[in-house]
Amino acid sequence: MRDRMSRPQPLASIGSFKTKWSIIVVVAIGMTAIMSQVGLELGWPWWVRLLAAITVGLSLVQFLAHGTTYPLRDMAQASETMASGDYTVRVAPAGKDEVGQLTEAFNAMAGNLAEADRSQREFIANASHELRTPVAAIRSTLENIVDGVVPAESKTMAKLLAQTEHLSGLVAQLLDLSRLESGAETVKMVPLDLGDLMHSVESEARLNHPAIELELKSPMGLKVVGDEHRLRQVFTNIVANAVRFAPLGSPITVVVGHQNGTARIAIQDLGPGISDEQKTRVFERFWQADGTPSGSGGGAGLGLAICKEIIEQHGGQVSIEDHHPAGVSVVVELPRML
Ligand SMILES: Nc1ncnc2c1ncn2[C@@H]1O[C@H](COP(=O)(O)OP(=O)(O)OP(=O)(O)O)[C@@H](O)[C@H]1O
Ligand SMILES: [Mg+2]
Repeated sequence: MRDRMSRPQPLASIGSFKTKWSIIVVVAIGMTAIMSQVGLELGWPWWVRLLAAITVGLSLVQFLAHGTTYPLRDMAQASETMASGDYTVRVAPAGKDEVGQLTEAFNAMAGNLAEADRSQREFIANASHELRTPVAAIRSTLENIVDGVVPAESKTMAKLLAQTEHLSGLVAQLLDLSRLESGAETVKMVPLDLGDLMHSVESEARLNHPAIELELKSPMGLKVVGDEHRLRQVFTNIVANAVRFAPLGSPITVVVGHQNGTARIAIQDLGPGISDEQKTRVFERFWQADGTPSGSGGGAGLGLAICKEIIEQHGGQVSIEDHHPAGVSVVVELPRML
């Protein structure tokens, strides 16, 4: 490839494929005509003139057209390599014309595919790791019961049940995420009263955590179009995070409001907060801050990734803001139904 690149490419600076080939054709025809005329004047027989004209014409085409077709061959070859799963191949840049632009687009596409492939592999590795931990715990407890080391009493069974529930919760989250991301499941949009939805999220949170200090401030009659089940899942998840990270007994406030055509729901807590660099990372799959407590209702770091996917399918967005004097405000914005 380096050899091809080092040869002169006389038309490389021309920005149009059509112009390039027009020049090649015109120059080749011109030189062929001149050659034929010269041969005539020198008294060459007709077949020598023909041979000389063809040789000169073809040599000129070879010289001028160098660099116009190899990018296409390289791309065909690179596509075959990519089809076999190797996304590291790239094609050499090729001039400024449409073929050159195509090579740039091809390289960008190869880069995106490589990134998607890397992220998919990482996802599978993380998912396998997260699934292996509870499976190993269940297996070792069951082995101990079978060997008679641990009695099959209700305390052990309750522990096994908790591990199984954790496992099935994780599988449900993984399924959710893959269905939402692949588009196999889409949100079912119906008109909803946001106040009613937030009241029912609040009641459920109180039922699960009777000791929490949860305050809901919501205006009446604020409507959005959305999937009730999915939006409930989002807010339950964010409130559960707040409950988990806020100090015991500290207030958690849910403020619902609207501005222009947007409904805004802020879930605020007085917990340890999230640093600026981590504010976008929390939405990555499996990301958890160092020191995030395992157990106590904590999962594998999929909750906010699922929330982001659901909110984006509603045409909204979710972000993390600082809350004063401490903690975070997780802000969900949804298009409001006017
Ligand atoms: N209110 C919060 N205060 C401080 N850190 C938070 C808060 N909410 C989320 N985080 C950080 O973001 C990480 C990712 O949150 P996410 O909800 O995605 O996962 P998780 O709660 O750890 O597990 P899962 O939701 O899958 O059960 C958390 O582990 C935590 O480090
Ligand atoms: Mg969570």
